[in-house]
Amino acid sequence: MTTPIVYVNGAFIPQDQASVPLMDRGFMFGDGVYEVIPAYGARPFRLEQHLQRLDNSLAAIRMANPLDHDRWRQVLEELVARNEGDDQSIYLQVTRGPAPRNHAFPEHAQPTVVAISTPLTALTADILTNGVAAITCEDIRWKYCHIKAITLLPNVLLRQQALDDGAAEAILVRDGLVTEGAASNVFIVTGGRVLTPPTGPFLLPGITRDLIIELARGNGVACDEADIPLASLQQADEIWLSSSTREIIPVTRLDDRAVGNGKPGPLWRRLYDLYQAYKQTLRQPAVSRH
Ligand code: PDD
Repeated sequence: MTTPIVYVNGAFIPQDQASVPLMDRGFMFGDGVYEVIPAYGARPFRLEQHLQRLDNSLAAIRMANPLDHDRWRQVLEELVARNEGDDQSIYLQVTRGPAPRNHAFPEHAQPTVVAISTPLTALTADILTNGVAAITCEDIRWKYCHIKAITLLPNVLLRQQALDDGAAEAILVRDGLVTEGAASNVFIVTGGRVLTPPTGPFLLPGITRDLIIELARGNGVACDEADIPLASLQQADEIWLSSSTREIIPVTRLDDRAVGNGKPGPLWRRLYDLYQAYKQTLRQPAVSRH
């Protein structure tokens, strides 16, 4: 494989020649925000929604967006064109930039803007056939989980705990209610209805989550935003995880007990198929969807 090309502060360069300053506040404080955007058929998926969320994250950390949406679109389309593969996963990050180490905002720092693209790997046949295991964990994070901040140490520890326990994801519970996964949103199916926790300070408003709600409602599947107590999660007929990189995956074991009959459920299959069909429309040249 050839060396990936990355975008750093206005330039496209080979990844092995790219660097950011040691004193960057992203490195020193985790003072920055990010997005992960899939590209299908070399087209960034739901780009406007991701850029809107980036605006929201930047506003929440009191930073102006260094690029406008048109420029972001150009940069990300060029990034995808310069890298291999139709399906890619774009990672972009904006930090408050390099400055002497001091918690206070620097007066004159230039933000650091980077974008990286890696091949997007399809879900394995094993996941589609058998689903994955998840564990439940106390949500130990802060109260600004709606910001897509690069400060991810709690998420890293929680995901690792899941992996150490032989599971793929940690489903987080705060004050008895499900919030989200360590790097995903959560859906359950109960009595034929799809439920997902409402947005607010305790979870990221996932772009995939919104699309699933849209696809469900547009296709006659009852889907509501509602609080999900831990007991409802434990008794759910189906549990799904959603994210830009893994789309919709079924959870078939929760804390070592089978979910439903232990196989991916029928409503997961329906939404998974709708999602694939929606993606497919993007690959057709004449159709423009965001
Ligand atoms: N994470 N919640 C959290 C905490 C996440 O980190 C993510 C995604 C999601 C799902 O959001 P979306 O559907 O917009 O990808 C929810 C990305 C993929 C990551 O950090 O790699």
